[in-house]
Amino acid sequence: MTVTSTYEQTIERTLFSKEEIASAVDRLARQIAEDHVGQPLLLLGVLKGALYVATDLARALAQVPNGPSDILVDYLCVSSYGNSTRSSGEVRMLKDTTERLTGRHVVLVEDIVDNGLTLSYLQALLKERNPASLRSCVLFDKPYHRLVDVPLEYVGLQCPDEFVVGYGLDYQELYRNLPYLAKLRQSVFTQEG
Ligand code: IMP
Repeated sequence: MTVTSTYEQTIERTLFSKEEIASAVDRLARQIAEDHVGQPLLLLGVLKGALYVATDLARALAQVPNGPSDILVDYLCVSSYGNSTRSSGEVRMLKDTTERLTGRHVVLVEDIVDNGLTLSYLQALLKERNPASLRSCVLFDKPYHRLVDVPLEYVGLQCPDEFVVGYGLDYQELYRNLPYLAKLRQSVFTQEG
């Protein structure tokens, strides 16, 4: 049995297909390119969730004509405290950026924004490093339970008010490698030990 088929038994439904995600990423790349014409851009992915969206965006950006003068890709890695389906906004930095942000045009790339605390924390932290500009890009937006007003310049897809997995998003570190976004069966959560 493959890993994918084991996953499939626990999935209730697909919310966004691989193709829908790819076209959202292409649209985000065109918007980001338009705002950074002729400028060097630092694309900063937030691991682990933005693993795929940041790399796919970087490749999509390379195909947009008249975009940034050059593109550097960097990552930071954070872990949010909270229960298994909600973040508390208390963020632990596991790996900082390797690039300096001072004077750079930075686009922070997140997988999903829910209550907004994680992104808000990162925006404040990175602003202190005096980038020339700092914009935020999120692939999936869940605007239903915001605890803070978080500026989002680029939004890919409006996500239903569900706990979702796939395309970088996990449940207990599993499901990140699903190529689509999915809702899990309730039984997965009730079996939580
Ligand atoms: P926020 O602080 O509530 O905005 O949540 C941000 C982080 O929580 C994201 O970067 C994800 O790691 C995680 N998260 C929020 N919603 C989901 C979800 O539906 N599935 C998986 N992870 C989520």
